[in-house]
Amino acid sequence: MKRPKLSRVLLVLAALGLAIQLVPYGWNHANPAVAAEPKWDKPRTRELFFRACADCHSNETKWPLYSRIAPVSWLVYNDIQEGREHLNVSEWNRPQKDAHEAAEELQKGAMPLPIYLPLHPEARLSPAEKAELVAGLAATLGGEGEGAKGGPTGGEGGEGGDDDD
Ligand code: HEC
Repeated sequence: MKRPKLSRVLLVLAALGLAIQLVPYGWNHANPAVAAEPKWDKPRTRELFFRACADCHSNETKWPLYSRIAPVSWLVYNDIQEGREHLNVSEWNRPQKDAHEAAEELQKGAMPLPIYLPLHPEARLSPAEKAELVAGLAATLGGEGEGAKGGPTGGEGGEGGDDDD
């Protein structure tokens, strides 16, 4: 078996790279309208949230240039769709069952998604800013020491298995 020449391999890769640009997944960067926002405890909480979270958790996403280039575009698009599904501060007119987890996700470092940070330095919060946003999220969205509020949503996961009907 003959080894393919490097130039040939590169040519094939380049052709593939171009071909995947034709996959329409992730092309739609039209932001849905903002329907309603939560009642922020302070403007500062909203400001920090919009720096660190809103690209994936609102309808006011700023789509970067690289979000137009496959395969990065697929990842970005998927994160934003999924992020909005879990928590969308632009659609406060519908139930947001994960909202009360926001403070905790930030506190433990799970959010913002680590992959987001290298290209979004503005989303890197100082320890003081992080503490401010954690407190603001807890005050605005509940959770984190606020005690069980018992929302109308619940009903997912849980280890109690109280689903007995
Ligand atoms: C780059 C996109 C992105 C950014 C920025 C981001 N998130 Fe997320 N977030 C996601 C995705 C994707 C999910 C769903 C998958 C997961 O849980 O990892 C998610 C899930 C969540 C959830 C639900 C967690 C659960 O277990 O149900 C909360 C709450 C959340 N994010 C809060 C935040 C907060 C607060 C910030 C800012 C400090 C933030 N996110 C920044 C993409 C993002």
